[in-house]
Amino acid sequence: MKLPRVIHNWLSYIGTAIAILALILFVFLFVLHTFADTAQVPYAGLVIFIIVPTILLFGVMLIPIGMFFEWRYLKRVGTASILRFPIIDLNNPQHRNAMFIFLLGSIILLFLSAFSSYKAYEVTESVAFCGTLCHNVMAPEYTAYQNSPHARVRCVDCHVGPGADWFVRSKLSGAYQVYAVLFNKYPQPIPVPIENLRPAQETCEQCHWPERFFGAQQKKLIHFLPDEENTRWEINMLIKTGGGGPETGLTEGIHWHMNISNRVEYIATDEKRQEIPWVRITNLKTGKTTEYMSTENPLSEEVIARADIRKMDCMDCHNRPTHIFRPPSYSVNLALGTDKIDSTLPLIKSTGVHLLAANYPSTDSALNAIENGVEKFYQENYPKLTNDKEDAISRAIVELQNIYRNNFFPEMKVRWDIYPNNVGHLNFPGCFRCHDGLHKSVDGKVITKDCTACHTIIGQGRPQKMMISMEPKGLAFQHPEDIGEVWQEMKCSDCHTGELP
Ligand code: HEC
Ligand code: HEC
Ligand code: HEC
Ligand code: HEC
Ligand code: HEC
Ligand code: HEC
Repeated sequence: MKLPRVIHNWLSYIGTAIAILALILFVFLFVLHTFADTAQVPYAGLVIFIIVPTILLFGVMLIPIGMFFEWRYLKRVGTASILRFPIIDLNNPQHRNAMFIFLLGSIILLFLSAFSSYKAYEVTESVAFCGTLCHNVMAPEYTAYQNSPHARVRCVDCHVGPGADWFVRSKLSGAYQVYAVLFNKYPQPIPVPIENLRPAQETCEQCHWPERFFGAQQKKLIHFLPDEENTRWEINMLIKTGGGGPETGLTEGIHWHMNISNRVEYIATDEKRQEIPWVRITNLKTGKTTEYMSTENPLSEEVIARADIRKMDCMDCHNRPTHIFRPPSYSVNLALGTDKIDSTLPLIKSTGVHLLAANYPSTDSALNAIENGVEKFYQENYPKLTNDKEDAISRAIVELQNIYRNNFFPEMKVRWDIYPNNVGHLNFPGCFRCHDGLHKSVDGKVITKDCTACHTIIGQGRPQKMMISMEPKGLAFQHPEDIGEVWQEMKCSDCHTGELP
């Protein structure tokens, strides 16, 4: 069979060679991928279904480009018989064969590219792709995610959600992100809040049904004080999650905010949305609105008129549903409470927290510093213990190092105090951004700071001397350290920062 004359040029030859090699490579890798277990190799999918097919297409595209240049060249040197387009005569067996090969090739190519695009789609939507491809950049989020309640929810279920338009948008911004990583242009830490995060109605609410949270949940929070005995202090409370009932239409409790029968909007004056001087609620049935203004730093009419008003959704409280970087105080409490660290080691709570919270240039240097720090502390202060409790001390070191690895990422400058967590009010302003008792409406209503509005304390204290409540309204809060009554006026987060003073 004779090929058209214009195909004889080096560009088309190279294109053909590239395409054939890529095709062989594709078939080979595909067979390997199907029969060997490459599912755990994060780059496998990317190479097989994105990079190799791209090379294949590139090769195929070179062929007609080469032909075009060749045609132009032949025309210029005046070869008369060169026409712009080939004459196809299907009565000519040669032409019929060429046509057949061309059609068959095109069909195979089309089929391959459809298949590859589908696989490419699967790959780029996978957790391994999002979490490990740009390994250093995503390491903090990926690690925290694997230890979170959402470890089985794919990244894209929250970050992209359903629908074609968001799919395209995310791939476009994704392409920019790949560029940013390749050229080291990404910020450290990655700034939040993510401005273009999709509204919660279209992501969270695909799985969580706001009308379906109701009632309360009981939580037992275990604390250890930073004294020599690591005194245990428990708080047992009923958190009034609330929500709405589809039958009753009533909304109550904490999930009152979820826009079922009310809309809550606010203005934040800082980037991380931690300062909220202005709040407006709208009753969706009556249309009545109430505006609350902070008496501490009120906004003027002009500022309000120009400001961005944000409608509150799930993420304004659950801003860390899965990338949860735990404060050292919390992590050490948890390890002591679950006996991963022996609570009879004197002052281990405060030693552990101080070592975790210090600043280190890299993970390795931190792990060393933790080991040396704990050993040195007991050698200097409790030399007898280094023998008696050698085992407990080395277990404590291992556990503190685990805490560090899972929650601290000096390479990306990520740790708990970089990203505020808005659920609660102990270490960050959280609920007290609005519920500080200082947000008032013109007719004198106040956004409540009543300690029983959101939870009821049913037990608190040291295990031996637990105070237990039989009353439905629960116990009055007692602060574990004697600090007088200042906790009623101050924000908890004015003193509590997640580490020790
Ligand atoms: C349950 C939902 C959910 C899942 C699943 C999820 N994310 Fe997120 N992610 C969020 C939310 C919400 C924020 C926004 C935080 C903010 O704006 O304050 C966020 C923020 C981020 C950020 C910005 C930095 C930060 O820590 O806030 C990165 C990077 C990120 N996610 C990557 C990932 C990767 C990679 C995965 C999969 C391994 C993933 N996310 C899975 C909900 C999710
Ligand atoms: C693909 C489904 C899915 C999506 C999307 C999703 N979640 Fe979840 N979420 C779950 C599942 C499943 C659990 C329960 C995990 C368990 O109980 O082990 C859960 C648990 C939770 C919890 C309880 C956590 C705890 O400590 O027990 C919160 C809060 C939550 N999700 C908030 C959110 C928010 C906010 C978003 C949106 C950013 C979101 N979820 C998106 C499936 C999802
Ligand atoms: C005003 C703040 C706030 C808003 C807004 C909010 N939540 Fe919550 N949510 C809470 C608090 C506080 C809890 C109590 C549990 C806790 O402390 O983790 C909770 C609990 C939950 C739980 C666990 C419930 C259970 O019964 O186990 C889920 C799931 C959840 N929220 C999902 C959502 C979703 C989805 C949205 C948006 C539609 C949302 N939340 C909006 C504050 C909020
Ligand atoms: C952006 C401001 C804002 C934030 C942040 C906020 N709230 Fe609210 N909350 C309001 C407003 C406004 C009301 C309604 C006040 C009224 O009755 O007019 C309200 C009402 C409530 C109610 C009902 C009170 C009652 O008396 O019925 C509960 C419970 C509640 N919030 C819990 C929480 C919890 C828990 C958090 C933190 C996880 C939180 N809120 C964070 C603005 C906020
Ligand atoms: C607007 C709602 C709201 C108000 C008002 C409120 N709290 Fe809380 N509180 C929460 C939420 C939400 C949490 C987090 C629960 C969790 O850990 O899941 C919390 C947690 C706590 C904890 C446990 C902290 C921990 O991690 O062990 C204590 C103690 C507490 N609150 C005391 C108080 C006191 C005292 C007041 C009154 C000055 C108060 N709260 C007012 C919503 C509120
Ligand atoms: C004037 C400063 C101050 C204020 C305000 C304050 N605390 Fe504390 N709190 C302390 C000190 C100091 C300790 C002992 C050191 C430590 O454990 O952090 C402590 C310990 C605690 C502990 C045990 C801590 C742990 O390490 O596990 C809890 C729980 C606690 N406080 C809750 C609260 C709550 C809830 C509020 C707000 C209603 C609050 N505190 C307000 C100073 C304060």
